[in-house]
Formats: sequence, structure tokens, C-alpha cells
Amino acid sequence: MEVQKVTEDIYILGIESSCDETAAAVIKNGREVLSNVISSQIDLHTLYGGVVPEIASRKHIEKINQVVEAALEEAGKSLEEIDGIAVTYGPGLVGALLVGVSFAKALAFALNKPLVGVHHIEGHISANFIEHKDLEPPFACLVVSGGHTHLVVVKDYGEYEILGCTRDDAAGEAFDKVARAIGLGYPGGPKIDKVSKEGNPDAIHFPRAKVENSRYDFSFSGLKSSVLNYINSCEMKGEAVNVPDVAASFQKAVVDVLVEHALIAVEEFGFHKFALAGGVASNSSLRKAFEEACKKRNIEFYCPSPVFCTDNAAMIGAAGYYEYIKGTRSGYDLNAVPNLKLGER
Ligand code: KG4
Ligand code: ZN
Repeated sequence: MEVQKVTEDIYILGIESSCDETAAAVIKNGREVLSNVISSQIDLHTLYGGVVPEIASRKHIEKINQVVEAALEEAGKSLEEIDGIAVTYGPGLVGALLVGVSFAKALAFALNKPLVGVHHIEGHISANFIEHKDLEPPFACLVVSGGHTHLVVVKDYGEYEILGCTRDDAAGEAFDKVARAIGLGYPGGPKIDKVSKEGNPDAIHFPRAKVENSRYDFSFSGLKSSVLNYINSCEMKGEAVNVPDVAASFQKAVVDVLVEHALIAVEEFGFHKFALAGGVASNSSLRKAFEEACKKRNIEFYCPSPVFCTDNAAMIGAAGYYEYIKGTRSGYDLNAVPNLKLGER
């Protein structure tokens, strides 16, 4: 990539509000986290078994000022010392996104500083740059979050090619739905991860779905139905459901499919570097499986620490930095785009 030669340190204020986390962070030169403040609404949404969009928007409005102030304070930076403001403008919940976008636009206007709209998935991918200072494109990346399951080629900073994605539920969505069905509640992913440690992953064989004519695409709705059918049949027979076994067996089915599809692509394209990203990338079993599979094939494996896997603004600041030095600038007409595609502007 032709980037402008940067001789001075660049400080980016990242802002994220696409779902149920209000977050702000200050990032130096795209890779150093000076602060990473996250105000989670999980406790509030747990009462309803999932994210309630209207409540999320209202909470973001209440919190965003404090969160941004805390991020600046923790970083020891004033607003005047910030070089640019990066904000998630899609995909996500429209009302939630609008809070971050409006706030960032107002700041950029008042301070006369550059504004950079960031794609949420680009943020997740860029979380890998924070702790892996040696990581440079090109590499392959599997993004697994609550709303997305994307197998992506990162050709260069900000340049992506999507090889495959889910045809129905996202991986995180499957975790959340199965967790609800086995009585673990919301958010399902971390709970299944925890309870699986007590269970036998080979106790029940759940299907590993393949998508016809597409080796890189995923499908998780059949697996979810299979778990629901298993629970129903236990109930009809009057048998108790062994929650840790169901959780561990379901988790293994997801992990197997993700590893298999991703590695077909990595080997076919001859990548030497593979990265994980997104909330589900904090799953202990998934990380271990990829680490082992990559080691066996001599592929360098990268994964952010869990705090940078789930939604945060440090990843938005990192992605925003690379867009900033490329010269990407957003106008005051920047809008929230709930179904923004990766690579679109
Ligand atoms: O990336 P993220 O924070 O938000 C989206 O962009 O969607 O991902 C949230 C998703 C949720 O579905 C949550 O259940 C899942 O990530 N998740 C996990 C784990 N931690 C979070 N899934 C499996 N294992 C985990 N440890
Ligand atoms: Zn996310």
C-alpha cells in the first residue's frame, strides 16, 4: 500500500457503539493502546434474554460522554492532542450506531479535526495489529462474532476479499441461541465456553454442515435445530439433559466446522499467516484448535486477547489509523449504515 510517510506520532480517538457496548479508546500509531474504556450494557439486556435495540440506543446516549472523557483521561491526552476521530458507522443497530456517529461528527466539527468512518468488521480484523506488532498483510482472517461469520483475505490495510460467509446464523448467534435453549441465558458464548469445560465433547454427535457448491461458506441453523431436537427428545423420554455434555458437544461441532473450512482456504491459497477475530474468537476451545491446526501446518497463528476480541474501541482506533494515513476522510454527512458490506465506503 502507498501510504504517506509518517514521521510524527499519530493519536486516534476510536469510538464504538454498534451494539451493546459504549466504548472509546486512544491509539498511538495504530498499534499502541493508551486507553481502552468499555461500558457494557450486558446486565441490562440479560433481563430480556438478548439485546433490546431501543434500550441500547438510550444507554449509549447516557454513557458516551463519560466514556470518551475517561478514555482521554486514561491516555493522558486532551482533545486538542488528538489527530483524528475514528467511529464505527456500520454494520450494527441503526439507533446504536447513530449515537457514536453523531457524537464523533460533533467532536470533529467542534475541534476541526479529521473524521474517519470505520467498518465494524475492519475493526475486529485490525484488533490483531494491536498485540502482534510484526503482523502485516497479506493474511487470511476468520471473523466470528454475534452478527458475522466471514472468511476474509486481508490483501492490504483496508483491502479485503471475502471468501466465504454464513448462509444463515452467525457463529455467535448459534452460541447465544443454543445457550438460551439449554437454560444458560444471555450472553451465551462465554457461558457455553465455561460450562463445556465440565462436559464431554464427544458425548453427542451433532452435524457438521457443509454448504453445497461452496467450500468456504458456513451454515449453523441446522446444528442449532439438531440441538433443539435433541433437547426435545430427552424431554419426551423423561430424561434429564446433561447441560455440560450438550454444550461441549455443540461447541466441538462449531469449532470443527470453523477450523476445517478456514484451513481449506488457507492451504489452497498458500497463506503463511492466519488470524482470528470477533467475539467468538475469545472462545478457549476455538483458539486452542486453531493454534494446534496452524502449528501442524507451519502457519503463523494470530489472535487478539479476549478483551480485544469482543466489541471495543481500540480496534476501531487501530483500523481508523490505517484509514487515516491512507487519506480516508468522512464528511459531516457520514451516516449510520446498519448493513454496511465489508470493503464498501
Ligand atoms: O464481536 P462481538 O462482541 O459483537 C458483535 O460484533 O457481534 O461478539 C459477540 C458474540 C456473542 O454472540 C457472544 O456470545 C460471542 O461473541 N462470544 C463468545 C465468547 N465470548 C463472546 N462465543 C463463544 N465463546 C466465548 N468465550
Ligand atoms: Zn463486534
